[in-house]
Parts: sequence; structure tokens; C-alpha cells
Amino acid sequence: MVAQINTVAFQGVDVLDVDVQVQISNGLPAFTIVGLPDKAVGESRERVRAALHAIGLALPPKRFTVNLAPADLNKEGSHFDLPIALGVLAAMEVIDADALTRFVCLGELSLDGSLRKVAGVLPSAMHAQGKDFGLIVPAECGAEAAWAGDLDIIAPRDLLMLINHLKGAQVLARPEARLRAKPKFKGPDMADVKGQETAKRALEIAASGGHNLLMCGPPGSGKSMLASCLPALLPDLTPREALEVSMIYSLSGQLPEEGLVSARPYRDPHHSASLPALIGGGQKAKPGEISLAHHGVLFLDELPEFQRGTLESLRQPVETGEVLVSRVNTHAKYPANIQLVGAMNPCKCGHMGDPELECTRAPRCGADYQSKISGPLFDRIDLVVDVPPVSVMDLQSAQRGEDSATIAARVKSCRARQAARATEMGLSALTNAQLSSADLEECAVLDEKAKDLLAQAVSKMKLSARAYTRVLKLARTIADMAGAPDVLGGAHIAEALSYKRHMPKS
Ligand SMILES: Nc1ncnc2c1ncn2[C@@H]1O[C@H](COP(=O)(O)OP(=O)(O)OP(=O)(O)O)[C@@H](O)[C@H]1O
Ligand SMILES: [Mg+2]
Repeated sequence: MVAQINTVAFQGVDVLDVDVQVQISNGLPAFTIVGLPDKAVGESRERVRAALHAIGLALPPKRFTVNLAPADLNKEGSHFDLPIALGVLAAMEVIDADALTRFVCLGELSLDGSLRKVAGVLPSAMHAQGKDFGLIVPAECGAEAAWAGDLDIIAPRDLLMLINHLKGAQVLARPEARLRAKPKFKGPDMADVKGQETAKRALEIAASGGHNLLMCGPPGSGKSMLASCLPALLPDLTPREALEVSMIYSLSGQLPEEGLVSARPYRDPHHSASLPALIGGGQKAKPGEISLAHHGVLFLDELPEFQRGTLESLRQPVETGEVLVSRVNTHAKYPANIQLVGAMNPCKCGHMGDPELECTRAPRCGADYQSKISGPLFDRIDLVVDVPPVSVMDLQSAQRGEDSATIAARVKSCRARQAARATEMGLSALTNAQLSSADLEECAVLDEKAKDLLAQAVSKMKLSARAYTRVLKLARTIADMAGAPDVLGGAHIAEALSYKRHMPKS
């Protein structure tokens, strides 16, 4: 007899059906797994054998063949333990295989028969829900699965509990989706940042429209501090965004146990990050920092210190909002709709332009340092702001600026305005930064003065077509922040242009 259990394999955020077929036949005792298993799946044999032994079941001295179909798809991860164990139990007629035909199973087994947390439960649950199937997952993943909808979920702590449930001896309750209390924000408040009014304004514009931002200034002027204020300014994810982001976190095994990710992601990898760490990849084509920052912020501090190749690899995903990770035997597509925020010094010593402090190699060292960021990457940055040294007057001033909560409320209402326009005009983009060129023509109409100004700027500043649309998007956000009507005026374009540079000002 061949017992068959449904499970899944992952290819990027796509979930693919896998059948676990188990056959027991006469012959020399053996336990063979076929169907392109990776090392973790191959080792599953030992865990299954030990887990069955722990619940008092010894495998008969027969030939066990486990086939993972389709046979030409690579099977990776430890979540195949549970379906293999259930297949073995069904083939041994300990459980009824028919009871499991409408369930997708995944879970890792411990040697004592208990079930351990696995990655990818949320996408699997959504996949099962789409097929009108139920889901069997470890207890720790139950709450995560429950977010997918009202599908049947069985979430046992160990194998024995599951067998008892299937036999009707001890029925398990369906796990509940829990809402995670939002973790308290630990970063600095905007009110703590002294001076830097231009940078603060640029930060608010970037937060309001989801624009890319680069801060450039000498050491200790507050660039990293300003960037770490950003998470507190951004509105929470919408329910749909939360589900998308949580799917990626689930696939990379980083989803908190208590529930979905609700705060907008803010990822700040160190500049020593490798290309696969940033873009995604490795042996299993896992999502990288850029995908973990989906619908949120990717902050690259000390931008020129990143490896050139790593920075250049950001160009395509920043433009398209998704990244295709290709390996010899896998191609995985991950969403990467990010807001890129960077910070840098103008040169190696950091003081270029300050005659008293700059090094003897200035301005040559500045040109060398800045050339580490390529023109095309620079073209994708909407706002470039100088963050000059803070004056002693500002530092000693007792006056506090606006706090993060006040700015966040303005950002929230500006984003609501953009979302309302998107619904009204049937656009898919929720923020101005995501508007397509066609949408932009409809929602960023210029008055005569603004048109003239932009035309002059294009010829004088040699703006590319991309830079042109990015200036328009930025001007749309500036107008939205002011609650301005549909037509953009010269002042909006002028402010947007003031943030546009080909290279950081030296
Ligand atoms: N504008 C400011 N207002 C108040 N404190 C500031 C300001 N700028 C810097 N500081 C203080 O200096 C510390 C260092 O600032 P920060 O790390 O943001 O500098 P930076 O511009 O990122 O420097 P670097 O170029 O060396 O990375 C902050 O933690 C803060 O205590
Ligand atoms: Mg810094």
C-alpha cells in the first residue's frame, strides 16, 4: 500500500504542492528517501525513526520507500519530518490516511516525538486556505497559521497528541490568531535632535511619500540619529501589507511567535553585509535584507563603505520593487518594495569643505570617496540633504523641537490623503513614491509657472527622465503635506528640485 500525505515546498514566496508517498514492501530492512531531498530532509529519516520509537512504535523490519513528488523539485528544510512520519504511520495503518487527504502538513520532529517550530507556516496556511484544505502544524506555529483565515488547523505539541486527535481520543482546539502588543519604540525622539531643520523637513517628506533619502555630512552631526527616528514617524502597515511582510518573515523564520508584523520594517544592515545578505540568496535562496525591508525602510549607514557590487545590486530592485534571486538550481522571486535611506560623510576624513578641519588631500579625497556611489544609484535618490555640524547655540538651546508623535500624526494624515486619492482614481500605488509614470500624469498636473521651472531645471541640471518623474513625485508629496489642491505650483517644484543632486554637494 502507498500512503500519501500533502505538504509544500517553497520557491521564493511561492508555495508549491509536494506529495509525500510512503510504501512498505518486503525486502532487506531499509528506509530510503528519494525525490531530491537536501541534507535536512535526508536526516529526517533518523528523526522520524527516533520519534516513532519514543511513542512506543518500532518500525517493522521491512523496506520503507519515501518519495517526495514531484521528483525534479529540490526539497529543502526540516518541515518534511511530520508529513514523512504521518506517511509512515498511515502506511503502517496506525492512522487512517483518508482522514488526512484534505490537510497540508508541516513540522519538524524532535527525537522525543515533540514538534518544533518551522519556517513558512503563514504562506503554507494561505496556500491551504486557497485549496480549501486544512493545515497540521506544530503548536508553536498555530497562532501564525490562524492569521490565514478560517481554515481547519490542528496544532499539536507532539506526535502522540496528533495521533490521539486523529483517532478522536483527545480533540485539540483550533488555535486563535493573537494580536501582538506593539513593541515600545526605543530609539531617539525627533525633539532630541538639535538644529538640523532642513534634514528634519527632508525626513518628514521622505516618510510622508515613501521617498529615497540620502543624508550627507561631517561626523557627529546627527545623520544616524535622524535615521533612527524614522521608524517612529512611519504609520503602521495596512492589514494587506502586514500579511505580505509577515509572509517574508515567516519564510526566513523570523516571524515573532505571537503574531503578524504590524510595525513597518526598518532594517539597518552593517556595511560589511555581503551581496547575498542584502539581496537574498545563499544555498537556499533565502530573502535578503532588501526583502525583509519590504513596505518599510532599508537604512544603509556609511553608504560608500558598502562594497561596490553590493550597492550596484540594489539598482534593479529599487526600481522594480522586487528581486529575483537565481542560484544554480533555484530561482526565487521576492518582493522588495523599499524606501532606501542612506547616510554618508562627504569624504574619508569627513570634514571636506571645512577649511580648518579638512585633510590635506581635499577636495580630491571627497571626489574619490563619493565616486564609490555610482551615478545610476544616485539617480534613484529623491532627496539629498546636507547635515552640517550642529552649532553650539543649537546644542545649548533649551528649546525642544516638535516631537516624533506630532510629526507622525502629520505623516499619517498625508499618507491617508495619498491612499484616498489612489482609491478615488483606481491606482494601485498607496504612496506617491510608488506612482507609475502614467498615474503621475493624472495626479501631478503642473501649472504654467511650475512647468517652466521644471523645464529650465531639466536643461540646466541635466535631469534624466527618471529624475524628472522622481521630482514630480516629490513635489506631489510636498503639495500633499501642505494639503494643496490637485495642481502643483512653482513652490512645490522648487522645493522638490532643491533636494535633487547628481552627487553630494562637497
Ligand atoms: N543634531 C543633534 N542633536 C542632538 N544630539 C546630536 C546631534 N547630532 C549628534 N548628536 C549626538 O551625537 C551622537 C552621534 O551622532 P550620530 O551618530 O547621529 O552622528 P553621525 O552624523 O551619524 O556621525 P558619523 O558620520 O560619524 O556616523 C548622537 O547619538 C547624539 O548623542
Ligand atoms: Mg553615523
